[in-house]
Amino acid sequence: RSYTIAVLPGDGIGLEVMPPALRCLEAAAARFGFQLEFRSYPWASCTYYLEHGKMLPDDWKAHLQACDAIYFGAVGDPATVPDHISLWGSILTFRREFDQYINLRPCRLIPGVTSPLANREGKPIDFVTVRENTEGEYSSIGGKIFEGTDRETVIQNTVFTRTGVDRVVRYAFELARRRPAKKLTSATKSNGISITMPYWDERVAEIGKEYPEVTVEKYHIDILCAHFVQRPHTFDVVVGSNLFGDILSDLGPACTGTIGIAPSANLNPSANRADRTKEWFPSLFEPVHGSAPDIAGKGIANPIGMIWAGQMMLDYLGEKDAAEAVMRAIESVLATAKDAQMKGGADLLTPDMRGKGTTEGLGSAIEKEIRG
Ligand code: NAI
Ligand code: MG
Repeated sequence: RSYTIAVLPGDGIGLEVMPPALRCLEAAAARFGFQLEFRSYPWASCTYYLEHGKMLPDDWKAHLQACDAIYFGAVGDPATVPDHISLWGSILTFRREFDQYINLRPCRLIPGVTSPLANREGKPIDFVTVRENTEGEYSSIGGKIFEGTDRETVIQNTVFTRTGVDRVVRYAFELARRRPAKKLTSATKSNGISITMPYWDERVAEIGKEYPEVTVEKYHIDILCAHFVQRPHTFDVVVGSNLFGDILSDLGPACTGTIGIAPSANLNPSANRADRTKEWFPSLFEPVHGSAPDIAGKGIANPIGMIWAGQMMLDYLGEKDAAEAVMRAIESVLATAKDAQMKGGADLLTPDMRGKGTTEGLGSAIEKEIRG
C-alpha cells in the first residue's frame, strides 16, 4: 500500500508543527508496512504571496489532484497580508473547489490535559462537530453600495441549498447512528434569522424521520455556546451551518483545555479516486488552529492538533490500525507527561497545556511511542 500526500505547511506555527507530525506519520507507516510519499509545496502561504502576488500557482489544482489526500498546516500572517486574501486564496479555495462539504472536528478531553471546566460530574467530554463547509454564511454573494456616503451599505447573503443542507445533515445523522449515544444536536437561530434558519430546522426534522434511532435536539447558537461551557459532556454529534459550525468547533476544543490539540478533516465523502469517470476531489486534513503569530518562531506550539489531523487522514486512507496506534500514542504520551510534570520530572506539555515543553520534545515523544 502506498499513498501520495500533498504537504502544505503554510505560515507561522504551521511550519513548526508540520515536521514532527510528518515524522509521526512516517513512524506509523514503517510500523504498519505501508508507504507515504510526501510532496511538499511552499504555496498557500503568505510568504509565497509576498513573492508572487498570489497565494497559489496556476497549476495548483493538478498538483493536489495527483495526491490521495492533502495535509495542511495553517495559513495567515495578518501583519503582512489581510486575512481575507490569505484564507480565501488558499484553504477556502480548496474547500470550495474540491467540494469538501463536511468539516469534521472531534472534540475530546484527553487525560493529561487540564480542562478549564470542572463541573462535569466526572464524565468524559467526547463529541464531534459537523460543520457545513461550502455555503451558508460564507458565500461570496453581496457587495457594497453608496460607498463613501452616509448611506454606505454592505450586504452579504447567506446561501442554503437543499442539496448543500441535506448532505451535511444526512452525514451527521449517519455519524450519530454509528456512535453509542446516538444523539444529534442541531445549531440554529431561527428566532432571529427568520428565513434561512427555519429552512435549516425544517431539513433537519425531515431527514431525522429516516433515523428514528437517533435522538434529535436543537438549540439556538447563543444558548448552545453556554451549554458547551456548562455541560460539554452531554453532547455527541453537533451539526451546524458554516458560521455556527466554525464557532462551535473552536469553543468545543477550548472546553477540553486547548485548541492546540484539536484536529479537523475537510471531507468530500462522495469523491472516489478509483472512479475514473468523475473528477477526483481530494480531502484535506488540518489542525483547527491558525498560524498563531503570537507564538510563532518560539518552538512552543502544540504539535498534537497537526498529528491528530494526520491520524484522521490515516483513518480516511483506510489504515485503521495505524490510525488507532497514533491515537493511543497521543493519549499515552499525554497521560505520562502529566504524571511526570506532577512528580517534577521532564515537562513535555507545551505552555497551552500548562507546561514548559516544546514542539520538538512533545512531537518526538509521540513519534517514539508510535514506533513502539
Ligand atoms: P490561532 O488559532 O492562530 O491562535 C489563537 C490562539 O491560540 C493564540 O493565542 C495562539 O497562540 C493559540 N494557539 C493556536 N494554536 C496553538 C498551538 N498549536 N499551540 C499552542 N497555542 C496555540 O487564531 P488567530 O490568532 O485568530 O489567527 C491567526 C492567523 O491564523 C490569522 O491569520 C487567521 O486568519 C489564521 N487562521 C488560519 C486558519 C487555517 O489555516 N485554517 C484557521 C484559523 C485562523
Ligand atoms: Mg475557526
